[in-house]
Amino acid sequence: MSTKSKIFNSLYWKISGIFLVFTILLTIIFIYISVIFSSEYNQEAQQKINGEIAAGAIKEVSPIFVDGKVKEEAIKVLMHSMMAVHPSIEVYLLDPGGRILTFVVPGQDVKTEYVSLEPVKKFLGRSDDRIIKGDDPRNPGSPKIFSAAEIIEDGQLKGYMYIILASNQYTSTMAALENSFILKIGARSILISVLLTSMLGLLAIWIITRNLNKIISAFRSFKEGNHSVRINLQTGGELGNVAHTFNSMAETIQQNIIQLKSVEELRKELIANISHDLRSPIASIQGFTETILLKEDKLTENERKKYLEIILQNSENLSKLVNDLFELSKLESNPQMIQPEPIQVAELVQDVADKFQIIAREKNISINTIYSKSLPLVYADIQMTDRVFQNILDNAIKYCNPGDVVTIELELQKDSVLVKIADTGKGIAEDELPYIFTRYYKGSKTKGANSTGLGLAIVKKILDLHKSSIQVYSKINQGTRFEFQLPLYVVA
Ligand SMILES: Nc1ncnc2c1ncn2[C@@H]1O[C@H](COP(=O)(O)OP(=O)(O)OP(=O)(O)O)[C@@H](O)[C@H]1O
Ligand SMILES: [Mg+2]
Repeated sequence: MSTKSKIFNSLYWKISGIFLVFTILLTIIFIYISVIFSSEYNQEAQQKINGEIAAGAIKEVSPIFVDGKVKEEAIKVLMHSMMAVHPSIEVYLLDPGGRILTFVVPGQDVKTEYVSLEPVKKFLGRSDDRIIKGDDPRNPGSPKIFSAAEIIEDGQLKGYMYIILASNQYTSTMAALENSFILKIGARSILISVLLTSMLGLLAIWIITRNLNKIISAFRSFKEGNHSVRINLQTGGELGNVAHTFNSMAETIQQNIIQLKSVEELRKELIANISHDLRSPIASIQGFTETILLKEDKLTENERKKYLEIILQNSENLSKLVNDLFELSKLESNPQMIQPEPIQVAELVQDVADKFQIIAREKNISINTIYSKSLPLVYADIQMTDRVFQNILDNAIKYCNPGDVVTIELELQKDSVLVKIADTGKGIAEDELPYIFTRYYKGSKTKGANSTGLGLAIVKKILDLHKSSIQVYSKINQGTRFEFQLPLYVVA
């Protein structure tokens, strides 16, 4: 037997076993209680039906006392004839103090002289049908139901007629009947109710454990690596909840695994790209340094200068690449690193523009700025915003031809400042536009060594962290325009 079915079976049988034991126990208790109640009911009915039997008997033989003495013969005849009709009764004649004057009982084995009058008085004054039990002179300590009546003659209480309704003989007959009742009704009830409840119960338990089994096998399958397994239960309640929780947990884990895998892919791709980008400047530096060292005397002054310039250029490229990579990975690994503050965006733009004026002039490119002096403060990380301007301006100048114009415009909007940086340069082909913000993406015409393809990826990441987006509009040979918004500073 497999572990799976062992668990299922033991759980199934444990629950079923407990359930069956409880069913049988409850049935027995039910039968026991029914018997007790039916016996009580029987006695109540007896006392109610035969309650007036004592009063009737008195009427028959009245007067009972003649010259202060009991009319014994007449009474005994009556008593016997009563007992012939009701064999279960025992008849006693009591004096006003409860002493037994005469009696007719089978076997004549009366053990007490007195009968307690308290229950007799209660019986005579009763207003409801509750059972009242009185002394049984034949069985002291074992009270019985009875009927009683006062004997009043010549206006005086002369005594009581006291009739035990359920004699020894009667109660033992009852007990026998009850036993057979237990046997008959009990056996049938046990059989029918145990069978019915067991069938329904076992079916219910089977349905529950079947669902549990589904859950267990889903867990096991997931543990064994099948991350797409889900539990399909057509039930609500606790088990439905467990299934639902499992499904959403499995979904999250599966998504995380997919994400981890793609991060891992990206990491591999990055390492490949980085090593490729690092290799060429390093090889170039190495090659030219070796040449200078080997041909020390044979090199002309001009050649040496040219080689050293190449080495310097490559070192600068290397340093830019390393810095950009470092910056991007810092932004990606720690999104909390932005520290927004209220900034004068016009001032910032002017500073960046001034910084780029020198290279722009060298390339005969002009930089214009358009903004209102009364622009409100924006809320952004000043260094990162500066980096955004620098990277976009760097591109604008890099991809412009002499005579082109770069314009930076700031426009106040409802709750932000719209930044537009436009150039009249080479432009970007339509099919390349969707990729320019992807890291390492360099346009097809961008073959220069001083290009890492990281500039716009950094821009996008920084604006993402500011919850802002960037748009680009470009036409080949006409120019390019970048647009993004910076949120206005709101005084708390
Ligand atoms: N103003 C622009 N005009 C024309 N093409 C542009 C402009 N800005 C970006 N591009 C194109 O988008 C590509 C990606 O730009 P990005 O700034 O990310 O990388 P890069 O400029 O090639 O390298 P880096 O900025 O890291 O030195 C560029 O290679 C270029 O083809
Ligand atoms: Mg760039």
